[in-house]
Amino acid sequence: MKSIHLSLLCLSALFLLGCSNDSPSDLIEEQNPNVAITYDNTIQSIINNNCLGCHSNPPQNGAPFPLVNFDQVFSRADNGQLLRSISRQTGEPRAMPPSGRLPQATIDLVEQWIEEGSIEN
Ligand code: HEC
Repeated sequence: MKSIHLSLLCLSALFLLGCSNDSPSDLIEEQNPNVAITYDNTIQSIINNNCLGCHSNPPQNGAPFPLVNFDQVFSRADNGQLLRSISRQTGEPRAMPPSGRLPQATIDLVEQWIEEGSIEN
């Protein structure tokens, strides 16, 4: 009984330690590489966490269009603007998000999603 309690304690300690530093983008990077990247499983949360402060509907802070659903994000992926905007360096005109470049691993996920056909689910 004692050892069960101890291992439970260890498990929960590991769990807490393992999670304490995870930002949403870290969590996304840990995704199983065998699962296709989709809007539903990956891209929507990247956009939600980093873009909707301005690209909401209606858009805020001078953003030119909303990015709140698949069709809106898809059309910017399809015309190249999405990847181009997040690939710009911090401080360059029209670098997105304007506050600072996303982690490269997150940009890579968006690039891979587009290369694989920008699927919804
Ligand atoms: C702080 C507000 C803000 C945030 C956050 C933000 N944007 Fe923007 N976005 C803007 C504004 C303002 C413009 C218009 C910039 C311009 O034309 O100079 C813009 C323009 C764009 C454009 C068009 C760029 C172009 O090349 O013409 C794209 C695509 C874009 N944003 C995508 C994103 C994505 C994707 C995110 C999240 C990763 C994001 N934005 C986050 C404010 C924001």
